Amino acid sequence: MPPKRAQRQRRYLACEPWYFDVQYAINAWMREGVSVDTALAQAQWRRLIQTYRDLGHTVEILQPTAGLPDMVFAANAALVVEGKVFGSRFHAEQRQPEAAAYAAWFKAAGFDVRETESVCEGEGDFVPVGDHLLAGTGFRTSVSAHQEAQEFFGLPTITLRLVDPHFYHLDTALFALDDENIAYYPGAFSPGSREALARLFPDAVIAAREDAMAFGLNSVSDGCHVVIAPQAAGLIGQLKQRGYVPVPVDLSEFHKAGGGAKCCTQEIRPGGYQPSADGS
Ligand code: ARG
Repeated sequence: MPPKRAQRQRRYLACEPWYFDVQYAINAWMREGVSVDTALAQAQWRRLIQTYRDLGHTVEILQPTAGLPDMVFAANAALVVEGKVFGSRFHAEQRQPEAAAYAAWFKAAGFDVRETESVCEGEGDFVPVGDHLLAGTGFRTSVSAHQEAQEFFGLPTITLRLVDPHFYHLDTALFALDDENIAYYPGAFSPGSREALARLFPDAVIAAREDAMAFGLNSVSDGCHVVIAPQAAGLIGQLKQRGYVPVPVDLSEFHKAGGGAKCCTQEIRPGGYQPSADGS
């Protein structure tokens, strides 16, 4: 019998997909001129939000800015851990104005936003697992942003090198199941990074390429339920065997832009750790 998994209530930020479209190609999935079914995209996104709410999570909604067709991918806008916001600096010029729009939301919601000095795409390339930060590089976020994040959060930060253009963000190749374990696709990583992951997470769920290509690793877990692409059938079976509860939500229109459920979801992790005044 697999163990019974415990859910933790989450707070998410998402951005309405009113202007979502594929108008430029900045990753291997995007094709200029591909047609997006706007009505279907909006229905899929609403289903995602409703799913989170039905699971008992809080979802805050940001209004999008016209002319920013990728703004729906909220995960890229920041990394929020223990109530501290590490803002983003987007790699592609087309997405750069998103940083200020999201920072304005965080400021209005009462957060200070740390401005980043290097290219950094938020939760797209940073995955907190317990007291560690897993940090991707190779296509978008720079290694110096990993170092900045470690200084800012005081969390041990592990640089992982991505090598396959289909998995250009860490959150397309890996997700946190809970505070101890992850699921990932080893083929997305350099040999050394693969070995590092195997040492850190000997019990990880290893996804097949097919499931990774179906955006199965762009999933959102609350420790028990895993909101996942229904196309990732093999991974769904593996998760069930481990006692997780897969909740399939189809975001196929967003796959055309190289994104899935996790990309549309920014997690706002509440404050917690307070270092003692004397530094001990
Ligand atoms: N078209 C977007 C880009 O290439 C997709 C972002 C997907 N987000 C993510 N967290 N992986 O920037």
